[in-house]
Amino acid sequence: MYNKNGKYNTKVTAFGKFVPETIYDNAYFESIVDTKDEWIVTRTGIKERRILENGATSDLAVGAIKDMVRRFDVDLNTIDLIIVATVTPDMFFPSTACVIMDKLNIKSAWGFDISAACSAFIFAVATARSFIESGASKKVLVIGADKMSAITDYTDRNTCILFGDAGTAMLFEPTEDKEDGFLDQILFCDGSGGKYLYMLGGGSLNPATHETVDKKMHFIYQDGKAVFKVAVIGMADVAEELMKRNNLKPEDVAFLVPHQANLRIVDATRERMGIDNSKVMVNIDKYGNTTAATIPLCMIDYYDEGKLKKGDNLILASFGAGYTWGGIYMKWSI
Ligand code: COA
Repeated sequence: MYNKNGKYNTKVTAFGKFVPETIYDNAYFESIVDTKDEWIVTRTGIKERRILENGATSDLAVGAIKDMVRRFDVDLNTIDLIIVATVTPDMFFPSTACVIMDKLNIKSAWGFDISAACSAFIFAVATARSFIESGASKKVLVIGADKMSAITDYTDRNTCILFGDAGTAMLFEPTEDKEDGFLDQILFCDGSGGKYLYMLGGGSLNPATHETVDKKMHFIYQDGKAVFKVAVIGMADVAEELMKRNNLKPEDVAFLVPHQANLRIVDATRERMGIDNSKVMVNIDKYGNTTAATIPLCMIDYYDEGKLKKGDNLILASFGAGYTWGGIYMKWSI
């Protein structure tokens, strides 16, 4: 079990979100690829996604940070570490963390980006906890942001209907209350899953050439069926294990906060946990899969709707490219 001996726990003290205004609904996809609204809704649960027409992932993050400042009056120059969870950094380098600091004139922090695809928010929070609970950092800002439209092939019906763009910001600080904030976590990687979900081009393996562009190697490739099979098992396993080893019964869980890739995967996780539909955070219908942003965006949406309350027990669970997967057991602190 994580974190039984340290002085501090980690809790959420502020948050913000940003979703672009442009909407691509299922009717739009019916007009550009061979698909049907009914297929998309029944196979995935998605009805529409937000698309950032101008700008980059750092702009989604900056929008979310500005929203956080509006809500919580945070002095950005008291933040000492910024961790950006993203698979669509503005550039390979400098890091998106550096770009964001420059755009917001943040001088007090250091930072870096984390690449763990759809599990990146959970991996970034686990990293933030290590810095806070070791005493190395006092205020860590985790950004979960992805401009998936930048790496989506809008002629490939297998993938283009799935993804959208969004940015989130969450601030983490230490608490001496050992019953508050983040209480447990499970994290996994299995590189043998890499061949089922990837973007081949642009890295040192396949540097950009005319050929990599012609072969569409700068877009997401996914073997949906292969990923589906393992995602169903991986997400349900971590959620069930977190409940078991923390002695949580279904009635003790306020919400499952699942990565939003496919409503059928979410439902399989819910079933294994033995919880009711009303205890599952879902917003995939509005945004599609926004990769690093889905889990924090769910929490913020539910808070805004008055459904998420201080003291609620949450089980976060994700599965993504790598393969990467994991879960977090936490108490909501605001
Ligand atoms: N519209 C209509 N038909 C489509 C389609 C679309 N947008 N996309 C694919 N199809 C077709 C396929 O071509 C296939 O046709 P075929 O049987 O003639 O070959 C058929 O639908 C079924 O394809 P299949 O891959 O079996 O569908 P599925 O039920 O597995 O659903 C996904 C596809 C992508 C929605 C689903 O596999 C999935 O969600 N996978 C996991 C995603 C995930 O968790 N990723 C990790 C985090 S990103």
